[in-house]
Amino acid sequence: MIDLSLKEKIQSLSQSFLADVIESRRHIHAHPELAFEEVETAAYVSSQLEALGIPHVNGIAKTGIVGLIKGKHPDKKVIALRADMDALPIREENDVAYRSKNIGVMHACGHDVHTASLLGAARILQAIREEFEGTVKLIFQPSEEKIPGGASVMIEEKVLEDPAPVAIYGQHVLPHIDAGKVGFRSGKYMASADEIYVTITGKGGHAAMPQENIDPVLIASHMIIALQQMVSRQAHPVTPTVLSFGKFIANGATNVIPDKVELEGTFRTLDEDWRAKAHQNMKKMAEQIAAGMGGQCEFTIKKGYPFLVNDRELTGRTITDAREYLGEENVLDLDIWMAAEDFAFYTQQMPGCFYRLGVRNEAAGITSPVHTSTFNIDESALETGMGLMAWLAVQELSR
Ligand code: NI
Repeated sequence: MIDLSLKEKIQSLSQSFLADVIESRRHIHAHPELAFEEVETAAYVSSQLEALGIPHVNGIAKTGIVGLIKGKHPDKKVIALRADMDALPIREENDVAYRSKNIGVMHACGHDVHTASLLGAARILQAIREEFEGTVKLIFQPSEEKIPGGASVMIEEKVLEDPAPVAIYGQHVLPHIDAGKVGFRSGKYMASADEIYVTITGKGGHAAMPQENIDPVLIASHMIIALQQMVSRQAHPVTPTVLSFGKFIANGATNVIPDKVELEGTFRTLDEDWRAKAHQNMKKMAEQIAAGMGGQCEFTIKKGYPFLVNDRELTGRTITDAREYLGEENVLDLDIWMAAEDFAFYTQQMPGCFYRLGVRNEAAGITSPVHTSTFNIDESALETGMGLMAWLAVQELSR
């Protein structure tokens, strides 16, 4: 019998488990569930862990699951691996055998891929548990897509305790890079995201007699333009900042000025002090613009996820590990991305590394972005998804 290195063993197990992990991914894909409603998905994950003989606890943050794979000397060190399980309110347009059976709900952000990959990694780690020291904590998390985020609820319910991991890894599909490749960014990687709701009240009336009215449409227009100063004048030039308004409701008519206008937008950045200051400044600016023009303004900010920071030391080691596992040419550097991700909550508690899994296959026409009705993946990415996670865990445990 050939004596394989641990790396070769993980690579060969990933190959031989691929067909089963594809089947898992397709099952989860066909049965998508929205945030905090992942009941069938959780039952499926639990049954898979049961079959593997991996002890686990269900019902954390409602539908979350935590499992433990103990190697030799299980108390020596604990590493956590996290997958999110929820789907999106999108009607799938892919014509595939495993198309969503839950019409109007779709795994359009690849969380089916993350969950299936973690099940694959669990199977590998369980098979080689005599060959590493320490414990791997598996976190199957609900509701990444919806505030307050399943991560924050799982942390409140003590997912990072007993036993406490010293590092956590998460992966997310990225349709911009080819299957077989992964991407990393050390340090700040993703933005905080807050929702902005503004109601501007004036005094409606006949559009031919503006002198009789207080025009909330004009107030809102000034406000939107003035608030861009947050990005162009107030944000430090090295701190990425985004302010976008996607909703502007002024329900008047060609000849009717309405009584009120409603705006909705998003504010994103990568600095907590600036985030707090910007919230205050935006509110003050909006209220004073409305008051200066004779109207009133109710300015509400609903805080979303914090920014995501990849621990520099952990990520540096992880990039080296990934290069060793996949080859130098398959490990890419990523830019900052202004989307938000609730893995950020873990990275605020402990060293974390959130990296991207390539799923693109241009020749096969698999190029749709996430959150679209035609998003899909090259399923060979699952081999990378499960194998790399298992490899990263054992490498970090060995240190
Ligand atoms: Ni996602």
